[in-house]
Amino acid sequence: MKLDDIPRVSLGFAPTPVEALPKLGGELGVSLSIKRDDFTGFGGGGNKVRKLEFLMADAVAQGVKVLITTGGHQSNHARMVAAAARKFGMHPVLVLRGNPPTQYQGNLLLDRLFGAELEFLDPDAYFDLIGPRMQAHADAAEARGEKAYIIPVGGATPLGALGYVAAARELAQQYDEAGRKAPDYIVLPVGSGGTLAGLTIGVSHYWPDTKIIGVAVSGSAVPFPERIAPMSNAAAKLIAVDREWAPEEIRVETGHVGPAYGVPSEAGNAAIHRAARAEGLLLDPVYTGKAMGGLIDLVETGEIEKGSDVLFLHCGGSPALFPFADVLAGA
Ligand SMILES: Cc1ncc(COP(=O)(O)O)c(C=O)c1O
Repeated sequence: MKLDDIPRVSLGFAPTPVEALPKLGGELGVSLSIKRDDFTGFGGGGNKVRKLEFLMADAVAQGVKVLITTGGHQSNHARMVAAAARKFGMHPVLVLRGNPPTQYQGNLLLDRLFGAELEFLDPDAYFDLIGPRMQAHADAAEARGEKAYIIPVGGATPLGALGYVAAARELAQQYDEAGRKAPDYIVLPVGSGGTLAGLTIGVSHYWPDTKIIGVAVSGSAVPFPERIAPMSNAAAKLIAVDREWAPEEIRVETGHVGPAYGVPSEAGNAAIHRAARAEGLLLDPVYTGKAMGGLIDLVETGEIEKGSDVLFLHCGGSPALFPFADVLAGA
Protein backbone atom coordinates (compact mmCIF):
# COMPACT_ATOMS: atom_id res chain seq x y z
CA MET A 1 0.00 0.00 0.00
CA LYS A 2 1.51 3.31 -1.08
CA LEU A 3 -0.68 5.61 0.97
CA ASP A 4 2.18 7.74 2.22
CA ASP A 5 3.25 8.56 -1.33
CA ILE A 6 0.06 10.55 -1.92
CA PRO A 7 0.38 14.29 -1.16
CA ARG A 8 -1.58 15.25 1.93
CA VAL A 9 -1.94 18.40 4.03
CA SER A 10 -2.38 18.23 7.79
CA LEU A 11 -5.76 19.58 8.86
CA GLY A 12 -7.16 17.52 11.71
CA PHE A 13 -6.13 16.17 15.06
CA ALA A 14 -5.21 12.51 14.80
CA PRO A 15 -5.34 9.92 16.16
CA THR A 16 -8.90 10.61 17.27
CA PRO A 17 -9.82 8.72 20.44
CA VAL A 18 -11.46 5.31 20.64
CA GLU A 19 -13.69 5.04 23.68
CA ALA A 20 -15.83 2.35 25.26
CA LEU A 21 -19.58 2.93 25.53
CA PRO A 22 -20.18 0.49 28.39
CA LYS A 23 -23.67 1.60 29.41
CA LEU A 24 -25.21 1.67 25.95
CA GLY A 25 -23.31 -1.49 25.00
CA GLY A 26 -24.46 -3.18 28.23
CA GLU A 27 -28.10 -2.30 27.51
CA LEU A 28 -27.75 -3.79 24.02
CA GLY A 29 -25.74 -6.85 25.07
CA VAL A 30 -22.68 -6.08 22.94
CA SER A 31 -19.22 -4.70 23.62
CA LEU A 32 -19.60 -1.24 22.09
CA SER A 33 -16.80 1.21 21.27
CA ILE A 34 -16.77 4.45 19.35
CA LYS A 35 -14.16 6.07 17.12
CA ARG A 36 -14.45 9.80 17.77
CA ASP A 37 -14.03 11.30 14.33
CA ASP A 38 -16.32 14.08 15.55
CA PHE A 39 -13.07 15.17 17.25
CA THR A 40 -11.00 15.63 14.09
CA GLY A 41 -11.26 19.24 15.15
CA PHE A 42 -10.64 21.39 12.13
CA GLY A 43 -13.48 23.71 11.11
CA GLY A 44 -15.83 22.16 13.67
CA GLY A 45 -14.66 18.60 12.99
CA GLY A 46 -16.13 15.47 11.43
CA ASN A 47 -15.26 12.82 8.88
CA LYS A 48 -14.71 15.20 5.96
CA VAL A 49 -11.52 16.54 7.53
CA ARG A 50 -9.77 13.28 6.66
CA LYS A 51 -10.92 13.40 3.04
CA LEU A 52 -9.99 17.06 2.75
CA GLU A 53 -6.40 16.36 3.79
CA PHE A 54 -5.96 14.66 0.42
CA LEU A 55 -8.29 16.85 -1.64
CA MET A 56 -6.80 20.10 -0.36
CA ALA A 57 -3.26 18.89 -1.13
CA ASP A 58 -4.41 18.45 -4.72
CA ALA A 59 -6.11 21.86 -4.81
CA VAL A 60 -3.09 23.63 -3.27
CA ALA A 61 -0.75 21.95 -5.79
CA GLN A 62 -2.94 23.29 -8.60
CA GLY A 63 -2.83 26.87 -7.27
CA VAL A 64 -6.59 26.97 -6.69
CA LYS A 65 -8.18 30.28 -5.71
CA VAL A 66 -11.89 29.36 -5.70
CA LEU A 67 -13.13 26.18 -4.02
CA ILE A 68 -16.65 25.06 -4.91
CA THR A 69 -18.80 22.31 -3.43
CA THR A 70 -22.37 21.32 -2.64
CA GLY A 71 -24.56 19.64 -0.04
CA GLY A 72 -27.80 20.11 1.88
CA HIS A 73 -28.61 23.07 4.13
CA GLN A 74 -27.00 21.32 7.08
CA SER A 75 -24.08 19.88 5.13
CA ASN A 76 -21.14 19.27 7.43
CA HIS A 77 -19.06 18.64 4.33
CA ALA A 78 -19.82 22.05 2.85
CA ARG A 79 -19.01 23.74 6.16
CA MET A 80 -15.63 21.97 6.39
CA VAL A 81 -14.82 22.80 2.75
CA ALA A 82 -15.50 26.47 3.55
CA ALA A 83 -13.13 26.28 6.51
CA ALA A 84 -10.45 24.48 4.49
CA ALA A 85 -10.72 27.05 1.70
CA ARG A 86 -10.06 29.84 4.19
CA LYS A 87 -7.09 28.04 5.72
CA PHE A 88 -5.41 27.89 2.33
CA GLY A 89 -6.38 31.40 1.20
CA MET A 90 -9.12 30.31 -1.18
CA HIS A 91 -12.61 31.71 -1.70
CA PRO A 92 -15.34 29.18 -0.75
CA VAL A 93 -18.49 28.87 -2.87
CA LEU A 94 -21.24 26.56 -1.57
CA VAL A 95 -24.19 25.68 -3.78
CA LEU A 96 -26.71 24.21 -1.36
CA ARG A 97 -29.87 22.20 -1.84
CA GLY A 98 -32.71 24.10 -0.22
CA ASN A 99 -34.56 27.39 -0.35
CA PRO A 100 -32.91 30.49 1.11
CA PRO A 101 -33.22 30.05 4.88
CA THR A 102 -35.09 32.40 7.15
CA GLN A 103 -32.51 31.71 9.86
CA TYR A 104 -28.83 30.87 9.59
CA GLN A 105 -28.50 28.12 12.19
CA GLY A 106 -26.15 25.16 12.70
CA ASN A 107 -23.88 24.55 9.72
CA LEU A 108 -25.44 27.46 7.81
CA LEU A 109 -24.32 29.79 10.56
CA LEU A 110 -20.80 28.34 10.40
CA ASP A 111 -20.81 28.70 6.58
CA ARG A 112 -21.54 32.38 7.11
CA LEU A 113 -18.79 32.71 9.73
CA PHE A 114 -16.30 31.26 7.23
CA GLY A 115 -17.50 33.89 4.75
CA ALA A 116 -18.64 31.36 2.17
CA GLU A 117 -20.48 32.60 -0.89
CA LEU A 118 -23.81 30.76 -0.73
CA GLU A 119 -26.26 29.91 -3.49
CA PHE A 120 -29.48 28.04 -2.72
CA LEU A 121 -31.15 25.74 -5.23
CA ASP A 122 -34.81 24.78 -5.23
CA PRO A 123 -34.79 21.22 -3.81
CA ASP A 124 -36.96 19.88 -6.65
CA ALA A 125 -34.72 21.28 -9.37
CA TYR A 126 -31.46 20.55 -7.52
CA PHE A 127 -30.34 17.40 -9.33
CA ASP A 128 -30.80 19.06 -12.72
CA LEU A 129 -29.17 22.32 -11.72
CA ILE A 130 -26.29 21.37 -9.47
CA GLY A 131 -23.74 20.36 -12.11
CA PRO A 132 -24.31 23.41 -14.32
CA ARG A 133 -24.40 25.82 -11.35
CA MET A 134 -21.09 24.60 -9.90
CA GLN A 135 -19.58 24.73 -13.37
CA ALA A 136 -20.89 28.28 -13.83
CA HIS A 137 -19.10 29.37 -10.64
CA ALA A 138 -15.93 27.66 -11.87
CA ASP A 139 -16.20 29.31 -15.29
CA ALA A 140 -16.74 32.74 -13.72
CA ALA A 141 -13.64 32.26 -11.58
CA GLU A 142 -11.53 31.11 -14.54
CA ALA A 143 -12.76 34.12 -16.55
CA ARG A 144 -11.35 36.33 -13.76
CA GLY A 145 -8.08 34.45 -14.06
CA GLU A 146 -8.64 32.45 -10.85
CA LYS A 147 -8.16 28.70 -10.82
CA ALA A 148 -11.30 26.90 -9.61
CA TYR A 149 -11.70 23.44 -8.08
CA ILE A 150 -15.00 21.60 -7.70
CA ILE A 151 -15.27 19.06 -4.89
CA PRO A 152 -18.21 16.71 -5.55
CA VAL A 153 -20.85 16.18 -2.87
CA GLY A 154 -19.36 14.66 0.28
CA GLY A 155 -15.82 14.77 -1.12
CA ALA A 156 -16.69 11.33 -2.47
CA THR A 157 -13.86 10.81 -4.93
CA PRO A 158 -11.22 8.08 -4.95
CA LEU A 159 -8.67 10.65 -3.69
CA GLY A 160 -10.95 11.79 -0.86
CA ALA A 161 -11.70 8.18 0.10
CA LEU A 162 -8.02 7.70 0.94
CA GLY A 163 -8.72 9.63 4.15
CA TYR A 164 -10.55 6.57 5.42
CA VAL A 165 -7.86 4.15 4.31
CA ALA A 166 -5.62 6.21 6.60
CA ALA A 167 -8.27 6.10 9.33
CA ALA A 168 -8.39 2.29 9.16
CA ARG A 169 -4.61 2.18 9.57
CA GLU A 170 -4.89 4.53 12.56
CA LEU A 171 -7.57 2.31 14.12
CA ALA A 172 -5.52 -0.84 13.63
CA GLN A 173 -2.54 0.84 15.33
CA GLN A 174 -4.73 2.00 18.23
CA TYR A 175 -6.18 -1.46 18.76
CA ASP A 176 -2.71 -3.05 18.54
CA GLU A 177 -1.29 -0.62 21.07
CA ALA A 178 -4.20 -1.32 23.42
CA GLY A 179 -3.68 -5.09 22.98
CA ARG A 180 -7.20 -5.42 21.58
CA LYS A 181 -8.27 -7.81 18.89
CA ALA A 182 -10.05 -6.42 15.83
CA PRO A 183 -13.77 -5.70 16.29
CA ASP A 184 -16.34 -8.06 14.81
CA TYR A 185 -18.29 -5.17 13.24
CA ILE A 186 -17.86 -1.55 12.28
CA VAL A 187 -21.06 0.44 11.83
CA LEU A 188 -21.11 3.90 10.22
CA PRO A 189 -23.46 6.35 8.51
CA VAL A 190 -23.42 6.46 4.72
CA GLY A 191 -24.28 9.53 2.65
CA SER A 192 -22.07 10.08 -0.37
CA GLY A 193 -20.30 6.79 0.41
CA GLY A 194 -16.71 8.06 0.35
CA THR A 195 -16.09 7.14 3.98
CA LEU A 196 -17.30 3.59 3.46
CA ALA A 197 -15.34 3.32 0.20
CA GLY A 198 -12.06 4.16 1.94
CA LEU A 199 -12.79 2.14 5.05
CA THR A 200 -13.52 -0.90 2.89
CA ILE A 201 -9.97 -0.84 1.53
CA GLY A 202 -8.26 -0.15 4.84
CA VAL A 203 -10.28 -2.56 6.94
CA SER A 204 -9.88 -5.41 4.47
CA HIS A 205 -6.11 -4.85 4.67
CA TYR A 206 -5.69 -4.45 8.43
CA TRP A 207 -8.73 -6.28 9.82
CA PRO A 208 -9.74 -8.83 7.16
CA ASP A 209 -12.27 -10.57 9.41
CA THR A 210 -14.13 -7.43 10.48
CA LYS A 211 -17.51 -6.85 8.84
CA ILE A 212 -18.47 -3.30 7.88
CA ILE A 213 -22.12 -2.26 7.89
CA GLY A 214 -23.06 1.10 6.45
CA VAL A 215 -26.36 2.67 7.43
CA ALA A 216 -27.77 4.88 4.67
CA VAL A 217 -29.07 8.30 5.70
CA SER A 218 -30.48 9.11 2.26
CA GLY A 219 -31.85 7.42 -0.80
CA SER A 220 -29.65 6.85 -3.82
CA ALA A 221 -30.56 6.77 -7.51
CA VAL A 222 -27.88 4.10 -8.05
CA PRO A 223 -27.86 1.48 -5.24
CA PHE A 224 -25.12 2.32 -2.73
CA PRO A 225 -22.98 -0.81 -3.26
CA GLU A 226 -22.92 -0.17 -7.01
CA ARG A 227 -21.62 3.35 -6.40
CA ILE A 228 -19.25 2.53 -3.58
CA ALA A 229 -17.48 -0.56 -4.97
CA PRO A 230 -16.12 1.31 -8.03
CA MET A 231 -14.98 4.15 -5.74
CA SER A 232 -13.09 1.66 -3.58
CA ASN A 233 -11.58 0.08 -6.69
CA ALA A 234 -10.40 3.42 -8.08
CA ALA A 235 -9.02 4.50 -4.70
CA ALA A 236 -7.20 1.17 -4.33
CA LYS A 237 -5.48 1.76 -7.67
CA LEU A 238 -4.15 5.13 -6.45
CA ILE A 239 -2.25 3.39 -3.67
CA ALA A 240 -1.24 0.28 -5.59
CA VAL A 241 -3.57 -2.06 -3.71
CA ASP A 242 -4.17 -4.96 -6.03
CA ARG A 243 -7.75 -5.81 -5.17
CA GLU A 244 -11.21 -5.14 -6.52
CA TRP A 245 -14.55 -5.17 -4.72
CA ALA A 246 -17.83 -6.33 -6.19
CA PRO A 247 -21.01 -4.52 -5.11
CA GLU A 248 -22.12 -7.70 -3.25
CA GLU A 249 -19.16 -7.19 -0.89
CA ILE A 250 -20.39 -3.77 0.27
CA ARG A 251 -23.18 -3.85 2.87
CA VAL A 252 -25.42 -0.81 3.25
CA GLU A 253 -28.66 -0.99 5.25
CA THR A 254 -31.26 1.24 3.61
CA GLY A 255 -34.15 0.93 6.08
CA HIS A 256 -33.15 3.70 8.49
CA VAL A 257 -33.43 6.85 6.39
CA GLY A 258 -36.79 7.80 7.92
CA PRO A 259 -38.89 10.37 6.02
CA ALA A 260 -36.00 11.66 3.87
CA TYR A 261 -32.39 12.82 3.91
CA GLY A 262 -32.04 15.69 6.35
CA VAL A 263 -35.43 15.05 7.93
CA PRO A 264 -35.16 13.55 11.43
CA SER A 265 -36.54 10.05 12.00
CA GLU A 266 -38.23 8.71 15.11
CA ALA A 267 -35.67 5.94 15.53
CA GLY A 268 -32.80 8.37 14.96
CA ASN A 269 -34.17 10.81 17.52
CA ALA A 270 -34.66 7.97 20.01
CA ALA A 271 -31.03 6.92 19.46
CA ILE A 272 -29.87 10.51 20.03
CA HIS A 273 -31.69 10.67 23.36
CA ARG A 274 -30.53 7.20 24.35
CA ALA A 275 -26.84 7.90 23.63
CA ALA A 276 -27.02 11.28 25.34
CA ARG A 277 -28.60 9.85 28.48
CA ALA A 278 -26.60 6.63 28.67
CA GLU A 279 -23.18 8.01 27.78
CA GLY A 280 -23.28 11.82 27.62
CA LEU A 281 -22.62 11.35 23.91
CA LEU A 282 -23.82 13.80 21.26
CA LEU A 283 -25.13 12.43 17.97
CA ASP A 284 -27.00 14.38 15.29
CA PRO A 285 -30.38 13.96 13.58
CA VAL A 286 -29.08 13.90 9.97
CA TYR A 287 -26.33 11.26 10.09
CA THR A 288 -25.07 9.70 13.29
CA GLY A 289 -28.42 9.47 15.10
CA LYS A 290 -29.91 7.52 12.21
CA ALA A 291 -26.80 5.32 12.01
CA MET A 292 -26.93 4.60 15.75
CA GLY A 293 -30.64 3.84 15.34
CA GLY A 294 -29.58 1.36 12.66
CA LEU A 295 -26.96 -0.20 14.93
CA ILE A 296 -29.50 -0.63 17.74
CA ASP A 297 -31.96 -2.24 15.33
CA LEU A 298 -29.29 -4.59 13.93
CA VAL A 299 -28.49 -5.79 17.45
CA GLU A 300 -32.13 -6.08 18.48
CA THR A 301 -33.01 -8.12 15.39
CA GLY A 302 -29.99 -10.40 15.90
CA GLU A 303 -28.28 -9.34 12.65
CA ILE A 304 -25.43 -8.35 14.94
CA GLU A 305 -25.15 -11.19 17.42
CA LYS A 306 -25.26 -10.50 21.17
CA GLY A 307 -21.78 -10.48 22.66
CA SER A 308 -20.21 -9.09 19.48
CA ASP A 309 -17.46 -6.49 19.62
CA VAL A 310 -18.90 -3.51 17.72
CA LEU A 311 -17.18 -0.25 16.76
CA PHE A 312 -19.35 2.72 15.83
CA LEU A 313 -17.69 5.37 13.67
CA HIS A 314 -18.78 8.80 14.87
CA CYS A 315 -18.53 11.04 11.81
CA GLY A 316 -19.40 14.34 13.52
CA GLY A 317 -22.39 16.51 12.71
CA SER A 318 -23.41 17.97 16.06
CA PRO A 319 -23.84 21.52 14.62
CA ALA A 320 -27.01 20.09 13.04
CA LEU A 321 -28.53 19.46 16.49
CA PHE A 322 -29.47 23.09 16.98
CA PRO A 323 -31.58 23.74 13.86
CA PHE A 324 -33.71 20.75 14.94
CA ALA A 325 -34.28 21.97 18.49
CA ASP A 326 -38.08 21.92 18.02
CA VAL A 327 -38.09 18.22 17.15
CA LEU A 328 -35.50 17.15 19.69
CA ALA A 329 -36.31 19.19 22.78
CA GLY A 330 -39.73 17.61 23.34
CA ALA A 331 -38.84 14.12 24.52
C1 LIG B 1 -21.72 13.65 10.27
C2 LIG B 1 -21.63 12.89 9.01
N1 LIG B 1 -21.75 11.55 9.05
C3 LIG B 1 -21.69 10.80 7.94
C4 LIG B 1 -21.52 11.37 6.70
C5 LIG B 1 -21.50 10.49 5.50
O1 LIG B 1 -20.22 10.32 5.00
P1 LIG B 1 -20.06 9.95 3.46
O2 LIG B 1 -20.61 11.12 2.69
O3 LIG B 1 -18.62 9.77 3.29
O4 LIG B 1 -20.85 8.73 3.21
C6 LIG B 1 -21.38 12.75 6.60
C7 LIG B 1 -21.24 13.37 5.28
O5 LIG B 1 -21.52 14.50 5.04
C8 LIG B 1 -21.42 13.53 7.78
O6 LIG B 1 -21.30 14.87 7.73
